[in-house]
Amino acid sequence: MKTLKWWQQAVFYQIYPRSFADGNGDGIGDFPGMLARLDHMVELGVDAIWLSPHYPSPFRDCGYDIADYTDVAPEYGSLDGFCRFLTAAHARGLRVIIDLVLNHTSDQHPWFQASRSSRTHPQRDWYVWRDGTPDGPPNNWVSIFGGSAWTYDEATGQYYYHAFLKEQPDLNWCHPDVKEAMWQVVRFWLDLGVDGFRLDAIGTIFEHPDLSNHQFPLTHKPIIDIGSLSGEEIRQILQFQIHQPGLHELMQELRTLVDTYPGERVLVGEDENVMFHGDGDNELHLVFNFPLMQTHALTPAHIRDNQALRLTDLPSGAWPCNTLGNHDVSRMWHRYGDGLHNDALARVHLALLLTLRGTPFLYYGEELGMTDLHFSALSDVRDTIALHQFRLLTEQAGVGYADALQHVLARTRDRCRTPMQWDRSRHAGFSQASSATWLPVHPNYLQGITVEDQKSDPQSMLSFCRQILALRRRTPALIAGDYRVLHPHSEHYLAFLRHDPLSGQLCLILLNFSAHVQELTLTCNRPEARLLFSSGSRSEPQLPLASVTLVPYEILIAELDPCAPYGSD
Ligand code: NOJ
Repeated sequence: MKTLKWWQQAVFYQIYPRSFADGNGDGIGDFPGMLARLDHMVELGVDAIWLSPHYPSPFRDCGYDIADYTDVAPEYGSLDGFCRFLTAAHARGLRVIIDLVLNHTSDQHPWFQASRSSRTHPQRDWYVWRDGTPDGPPNNWVSIFGGSAWTYDEATGQYYYHAFLKEQPDLNWCHPDVKEAMWQVVRFWLDLGVDGFRLDAIGTIFEHPDLSNHQFPLTHKPIIDIGSLSGEEIRQILQFQIHQPGLHELMQELRTLVDTYPGERVLVGEDENVMFHGDGDNELHLVFNFPLMQTHALTPAHIRDNQALRLTDLPSGAWPCNTLGNHDVSRMWHRYGDGLHNDALARVHLALLLTLRGTPFLYYGEELGMTDLHFSALSDVRDTIALHQFRLLTEQAGVGYADALQHVLARTRDRCRTPMQWDRSRHAGFSQASSATWLPVHPNYLQGITVEDQKSDPQSMLSFCRQILALRRRTPALIAGDYRVLHPHSEHYLAFLRHDPLSGQLCLILLNFSAHVQELTLTCNRPEARLLFSSGSRSEPQLPLASVTLVPYEILIAELDPCAPYGSD
């Protein structure tokens, strides 16, 4: 394990700053709040924190519209507060990576304000400006959030390009000054001591210079329902807008910069494309395995197919990275739940995430089984994308009010961004605010979905997570081991091995994804394995391999004698 870097051994925990802990009682999470809750991460057993954007922002896209890259949103505190948080995290052995949005800024950023001020301003070309055509916009490119990707600016009579909202104009990365300005930002945070960056929407950084129209038929639709499309479909719809030449050279340049700093700072790409690993060691350290989570049901077959493809596709030397949830999607508990066994399934899924080969990213609240909040009124929604899409549906797509409302309320990303549930006090212990919190707290904080309720209950989701994380930490094979699938056709359970050549440790992982008992035989040249963990009630420390019975949704982790190689199964 010594040869692995810290980010290969670590489990990351994503914090959404606005929703984690409110230290000053204004109903919005902040750095003093996060600092006061650092011990939660330590007790949980994670190693690193990914902070979603903490910068000043008009908050059109929940902070992914940055108005100042070298400061802290006033509602979250100050730069000093950030540094105190970072120091306190480091003192507890927790690393911190921050979000970095390279593709676009807020339209309120001084760079854009300067750029839009006149056609001749020296910063005009920091953004992507074009003349219109007789039909209107320069071409039929679409915004990922719906509508045209071009917005007309009256003042200078040209259109500017935005892959996301019109309040998020795209930077022109072909301009050398843009790059230099952004590399200054990178140095600023690295100098302050952050341990790396999660790089937002890297695929959209460059556009095709010819601006040719897309041919794909979906482009005339007002909204691309990203959630319902495969990576390949998205690539087709956005053919000239994503993954354009120049990207990999840029990432290599960024990597070179980051590597000049001590301490193995890490770059994590918000993209599923393994090409972002470069030659395995010259671009991004980690790239999310999004295809794993892009499914309605995490079946053993889906997981096996995903792993087979993903682990083969990775360039040699590259390290996998798995996640099942983040601030953009329905919470894991809901998304993969069957309505009856959501709790049991969520545990199986967490165990999967923490035992597959690769660095796991866990979204805040998943350790408690936090669930989506269903919104019933647009006025409660804070994610402006929902409002934008509602307008597009009703004004451009001719969708009726009720249907449009239902569509956006079912999808608003606010559903998974509600305040962290700490205890049963007012606002679930998230805030001392006398009035409402920025998003409502999920009412199920009164039914035990809180840290306080769960921490002393050995049967709780939190205790389960802590146990698995602790086991992972002391079990080299679960961190460093390779992955080998067993029983490649099993429909209801997943069986795989993790073998760490360095320590010689060999672990067996059995996950029952079904509500039924599963009987299996592991044919190998060892009679039994040593039980490391079982969510069933097993009393024997040894597991006879010739006949294993898994109770419904059982999670079983065992260690095999490493001396002999595992025989055929
Ligand atoms: C991806 C982020 O995860 C999402 O929240 C954001 O809206 C877009 N990038 C645009 O920055």
